[in-house]
Amino acid sequence: MCGIVGYAGQKNAQDILVDGLVRLEYRGYDSAGVAVIEDGTVSLARSVGKIAELRRQLAKGPLSGTTGIGHTRWATHGAPTWDNAHPHLDCQGKLALVHNGIIENHRLLREELVARGHIFHSETDSEVLVHLVEEQFRGDLAEAVRAAVRQAEGAFAIVAVHADVPEEIVGARLGSPLVAGVLPEAALLASDAPALLGHTRELCFLEDGDVIRLRPGSVELWGSDGKVKQVSFDTIPWDPLTAERGGYRHFMEKEIHEQPQAAADTLRDQLHSSEGLGFMEHELAELDQVVLLACGTSYHAGLVAEYLWEPLLGIPVRAEIASEFRYRCPYVGPKSLVVAISQSGETLDTLMAFREAKSRGARTVAVSNIVGSALVREADAALYTRAGLEIGVAASKTFTTQLVALLLLGLRLANARGRLSEEQLAAQLDELARAPGLISQALDTDKALQTLAQQYHGKSDCLYLARGLLYPLAMEGALKLKEISYIHAESYASGEMKHGPIALIDEKMPVVFLVSCCELYDKALGNMEEVRARRGDLIVLTDTDDPTVRKLSDNVIVLPKAPRPLVPIVYTVPLQLFAYHIARIRGTDVDQPRNLAKTVTVE
Ligand code: G6P
Repeated sequence: MCGIVGYAGQKNAQDILVDGLVRLEYRGYDSAGVAVIEDGTVSLARSVGKIAELRRQLAKGPLSGTTGIGHTRWATHGAPTWDNAHPHLDCQGKLALVHNGIIENHRLLREELVARGHIFHSETDSEVLVHLVEEQFRGDLAEAVRAAVRQAEGAFAIVAVHADVPEEIVGARLGSPLVAGVLPEAALLASDAPALLGHTRELCFLEDGDVIRLRPGSVELWGSDGKVKQVSFDTIPWDPLTAERGGYRHFMEKEIHEQPQAAADTLRDQLHSSEGLGFMEHELAELDQVVLLACGTSYHAGLVAEYLWEPLLGIPVRAEIASEFRYRCPYVGPKSLVVAISQSGETLDTLMAFREAKSRGARTVAVSNIVGSALVREADAALYTRAGLEIGVAASKTFTTQLVALLLLGLRLANARGRLSEEQLAAQLDELARAPGLISQALDTDKALQTLAQQYHGKSDCLYLARGLLYPLAMEGALKLKEISYIHAESYASGEMKHGPIALIDEKMPVVFLVSCCELYDKALGNMEEVRARRGDLIVLTDTDDPTVRKLSDNVIVLPKAPRPLVPIVYTVPLQLFAYHIARIRGTDVDQPRNLAKTVTVE
């Protein structure tokens, strides 16, 4: 994780770097720092905590200079202290470097560097890089970076500046994202597009093994073989204004309310795309299984697809936690279709699991929100969610758009495999078009959920129960509450409750129960009775205003009725709102919850 930026141009670098860091703060916020080249040396400002702290420090002691780098940290090696904050400097104070990722052989490199006389000032793995570059530097920074990163193992994106070449920034990427923008008067590098969108929408996404040198108006790129590469730029459609909160209290609140539009954009994009998946018909007909790989919230989207796709496709379909999949010698081969789901397209666990499947010959599809991300580039076919920029660390609109994209993909696969006729496909697509409207209706529960949040924000635990297609939503609801309110929340398939979690239930335990008339309704009612019999405090989300349910429950939220495949999308909304309002009332940092980062580029 961590966010890194670099700037070389004519303006004061400090302000541009800090502005870029603010837009990358979702990547980590344990400490922050900037370094700029001033009069033949590097000047440094670092602080522990969020970027606001760095800003305060810079207001007291501003840095001047028009070339520099910046970093916002999510700590891996070494506590979030001033010493461990980036940028790191060489012994002479001429070279500064920022790093995102993990250098796996840092211990050995450090021992060797210390033996050669280097003095370390931090406990970070990153600091080895600055010493390695220092050793290699003979006037050409790109050359030195190339030679240094050859010695490093692991995943990294770095940006470096040197006072002897004050007009340039040099970046390198292996495993962690890095994106470049070049204008006649400025050159920029960053971990992710939002940091650059205020300057340019023409962005170059580096590939693994790339090293790049940028000066205002000029760019040079080398590939992993050390040879010069053609530079290509993608146009990013996002409006920089999406990075503003509008009238909302938090980005997450805004992003929850943007879901009807995001779903509509995703649908429009997919339905109007004339591109097929790029697979031969016989490849799809001969598939022996589908594996969906993902982490966190994206994994929950994969689980929904598992429930929906298996009967639709008539072959085994399973969603797998990416970090587990890779290391357990999974059954996957040339007849398998692997669908990797990742809003960022850069989550290292997902990327590595995906590469493992690909190396075994699987056909691959990436579902991502980020144009040019690593997953998209490496997959046989890519499917974009059109959620726009999501700044809240806890995923909201990227999740609902993943559900939309996966519904569409499932239908297309079923059609290609001859299990859904053209007429059936058209009818299902018509139903799918109702998604944005249904999400809007679900948003009408906002007031009721605010009231509910007032009632429950003081609780320390919460149980989420559901069956069938709604079970992954119970998981997502519990994850949202944990992530942003820090309330301990657990989810169970409600049929499993009697095998253990029922022991937790008493009058103090809130139980959020999801039930739909489309999904094992009578069985779910039975499970609710079991909760009630133990005096559990039952909050029911339902699409049927059933007096029996009202009698059993302490609180009922009635949602719009939706066709079965759209039920998970509808139920997502109140779960997000419940977690959001509880977190808001508890006063947590909703958009940047403690210890989390939006894009996790470490294993
Ligand atoms: C992090 C975020 C989660 C996200 C997960 C997967 O843990 O905090 O919100 O669901 O990564 O991210 P991805 O970009 O792969 O969807």
